[in-house]
Amino acid sequence: MTLIIEQFLCRGDNYGVLVHEPEAGLTASIDAPAERPIRDALAARNWRLDRIFTTHHHGDHVEANLPLRTAFGCTIVGPAGEADKVPGIDEPVKGGDTFMFGAFEVRVIDTPGHTLGHISYWLPAAGVAFVADTLFSLGCGRLFEGTPAMMWESLLKLRALPDETGIYCGHEYTEANARFALTIEPDNPELVARAEEVKRLRAMGEPTLPTTIGLEKATNPFLRADAPGMGARLGMANADPVAIFAEIRRRKDNFR
Ligand SMILES: [Fe+2]
Repeated sequence: MTLIIEQFLCRGDNYGVLVHEPEAGLTASIDAPAERPIRDALAARNWRLDRIFTTHHHGDHVEANLPLRTAFGCTIVGPAGEADKVPGIDEPVKGGDTFMFGAFEVRVIDTPGHTLGHISYWLPAAGVAFVADTLFSLGCGRLFEGTPAMMWESLLKLRALPDETGIYCGHEYTEANARFALTIEPDNPELVARAEEVKRLRAMGEPTLPTTIGLEKATNPFLRADAPGMGARLGMANADPVAIFAEIRRRKDNFR
């Protein structure tokens, strides 16, 4: 079984992602940041759009929902928890739900924090997950609606996926995230190596995504709030992981 995944930039730093299941001849768009680049990517492959998998209600993820549904008659799957804010939603889903996309099972994971209803889509047989603005490479989403405890729980769910899981994120933020991550763990050799790789990729105009859970576990400070010595490094030895995570998030919010 194969799944073909196309990733392309939309509106600056948003990623558009198309997922094609060749046996069933089905194509899904992960979110719908902008109509034109998604239609161009479909046309380049001669695919037609059957589904949109919405992760959360922010405008830069749902803007093209209605124009694409009008153009293709596609079905829009999205988060039940914020269904009232997702234009054109046809099939609300929530954590624990599963559905088929051709031969592939899709598992819905509740990942609130960035927004209260944010969901992620995991395709175990394909070894990929679409996490939008919950987890970024070397970063995580801002807490616009949720609490640190909520986001930490969401990140723990993603961290529990197999190490080799390919992680597709909503934005190309990795280079700025790397600069911040190095202020938290300047002596983490895997982080230093990843930061160099990211710099090299971006200098060539290449994407730094998808990443993997294994790589993020080793390098992403937001997944490492409970790593040995992290609290002490931040001057908060004996603090619990949620407090340490909240402090890392607070520092990132103020980082320039
Ligand atoms: Fe967002």
